[in-house]
Amino acid sequence: MKDYKRHLVTAALPYANGPVHIGHLAGNFLPADIYARYLRAKGEDVKFICGTDEHGVPITIRAMKEGVTPQDIVDKYHKIIDDSLKTMGISFDIFSRTSNQIHHETSQAFFKTLYDKGLFEEKESEQYFDEEKQTFLADRYITGTCPKCSNENAYGDQCEKCGSTLSPDELINPKSTLSDSIPIKKKTTHWYLPLQNYETWLKQWIVEDHKEWKNNVYGQCKSWLDNGLQPRAMTRDSNWGVKVPIEGVAGKVLYVWFDAPIGYISATKELTNQWADYWCKDDTKLVHFLGKDNIVFHCIIFPAMLKAHGGFVLPDNVPANEFLNIEGEKVSTSRNWAVWVDEYVKDFPDMQDAMRYTLIANAPETKDNDFTWKDFQDRNNSELVAILGNFVNRAFVLMHKLCNGRVPAFHLEAKDEKDDALFEKIVNTKKQLEQSIEQYRYREALFTVIDLAREGNKYLQDKEPWKHTDNQVLIDNSLHLCLQLCANLAIYINPFLPFTAKKMCKLMKVVDKMLEWKNGGSLELLKVNYPLNPPELLFRKVEDDEIAFQKAKLENNKIQQVIEVAKTEMIESQISPLKNEIVFDDFEKIDLRVGKIIEAMKVPKADKLLQLTVDLGFEKRTVVSGIAAHYSPEEVIGKQVTLVANLAPRKMRGIESNGMILMAENAEGKLIFVNPSEEAVNGCSVK
Ligand code: MF3
Ligand code: ZN
Repeated sequence: MKDYKRHLVTAALPYANGPVHIGHLAGNFLPADIYARYLRAKGEDVKFICGTDEHGVPITIRAMKEGVTPQDIVDKYHKIIDDSLKTMGISFDIFSRTSNQIHHETSQAFFKTLYDKGLFEEKESEQYFDEEKQTFLADRYITGTCPKCSNENAYGDQCEKCGSTLSPDELINPKSTLSDSIPIKKKTTHWYLPLQNYETWLKQWIVEDHKEWKNNVYGQCKSWLDNGLQPRAMTRDSNWGVKVPIEGVAGKVLYVWFDAPIGYISATKELTNQWADYWCKDDTKLVHFLGKDNIVFHCIIFPAMLKAHGGFVLPDNVPANEFLNIEGEKVSTSRNWAVWVDEYVKDFPDMQDAMRYTLIANAPETKDNDFTWKDFQDRNNSELVAILGNFVNRAFVLMHKLCNGRVPAFHLEAKDEKDDALFEKIVNTKKQLEQSIEQYRYREALFTVIDLAREGNKYLQDKEPWKHTDNQVLIDNSLHLCLQLCANLAIYINPFLPFTAKKMCKLMKVVDKMLEWKNGGSLELLKVNYPLNPPELLFRKVEDDEIAFQKAKLENNKIQQVIEVAKTEMIESQISPLKNEIVFDDFEKIDLRVGKIIEAMKVPKADKLLQLTVDLGFEKRTVVSGIAAHYSPEEVIGKQVTLVANLAPRKMRGIESNGMILMAENAEGKLIFVNPSEEAVNGCSVK
């Protein structure tokens, strides 16, 4: 194995078009954080890099839908994501953003280098264009009928029903999802990276030289390579993103998957002047953490870009995870089937480690895995509280009761087999952890730590110091060992549950420096006779009602989402969404009356307005109504109408209007009167 001097750890940059959910934590941020914390504890030189990915079509679409600018969207979500991840203890050295100037410059320079070397193919092609929205359509925003299975809602890149990969050209009856209009074909020029030119090199680098990569990653790469690579466009038609740095080119930006991974480099630049040591010296160990949907970009496309550019290190490993489902169902942001990190930290303040623990224990390291709230409760209550928390608490309670609150001495002459066995376990755990962590097997590592705590409980149970109040030597030795075990547990659990490790340091009155990895396996971490703090619980129980609440929230999210979708569909079909609910009293305030139009005339110089006289039986009213485009004065005389009779008078074109006539719209968009289906008494109330 190589002797590395520096470590670069990256976690895939989340898109800034929504908050992050616990699937992101489990798949990506937590493994990267554990690894970075472990390396730091070992005293390694490490930079943990992340930030938000702020370009790409979904962000522009979201902005369009919400009627704000893309910048508004990314500003909002950058902050939410940044706050929630930091609160969860994800220990980035920098959390940057791809909208920063330094990133635009860095990715433009990168592109320019490839361009100047002549490594792109410039190609003109015809692409779908939405004339109504005046924009080229990304594959995802075209729907149509799948040529393979006839599903009418297939996307331009994929049919979710039969799973086939599609191109927009294959869709039958393509439609723009932005406007529902039929897109036209329009010529456009783009710059392609001929990935096939890197195939031989990639095969050597991955298939031959990186057989140690995780099966799921290696397998996916191999199958991409076996299928043969094709040129891929590295630019897009859009106004949101990093501008293509070629003279005379406008309205084009770098493909988001071209600029985003360069974000790792620009964020490092922003962090340190020494960035080039990390990125350009081959004694740097670069490790990318990500979810399985990102594998091809990090293992094939980005390495090909780096290779094409030259001078950069390549990843040593890409330990991608599979997906985390929620309560047995796939996470779906559009259906709001997700546990959002920003909401979790609000609902469970100071319980970051409980979620960290559950997610690591269920990490989808080799296959998709499931998160359930019940499992969260069980893991917290029967593992954190009942094993780790319980052991530490017992050791502290007993030490205060039987040893005056001080670390008792260890009487070597009285050492027995059980002591030896425990000591050995403490030392072995360290080696096991190193192996598991360095091979990116965090579930295994976490369970190894919990096993050690379990061993501590067993040891106490065997020794029963509370029953041997006449044998101070037994008491001293057993509690001395248990307290040294507490110190070791703090070191071992630190990469996984940093908040807990900190609390343990506080209990033991030691500085955080004790947590350095090199101290693991030592039995001299706490000095004899050193006074320790009184016991304090490390974890609290999670109650049934908290779990019930979270489950109800998930179900409710789903219902809310159905309502949202129905609302959007109404807007799209020109029907206005329902207004907010009112109470009966609100309705009661409106005085609706039936009346008859007895006079009508055009309002001079106003195309849309008719001046009407409405007979309410008890009085005659002048009403100005915007129906002139639909009716001539003659047509309306004699019609009964429904009038809002207590609306404050309003002047229109100098005429005072005293009320408003209710109108509806027919299929052709013509306004029609809302009137009683039979002749009613003029002036009667409508209730
Ligand atoms: N934003 C992408 C996603 O969430 C990941 C980008 S990773 C990077 O799927 F390498 F491009 F930065
Ligand atoms: Zn299909």
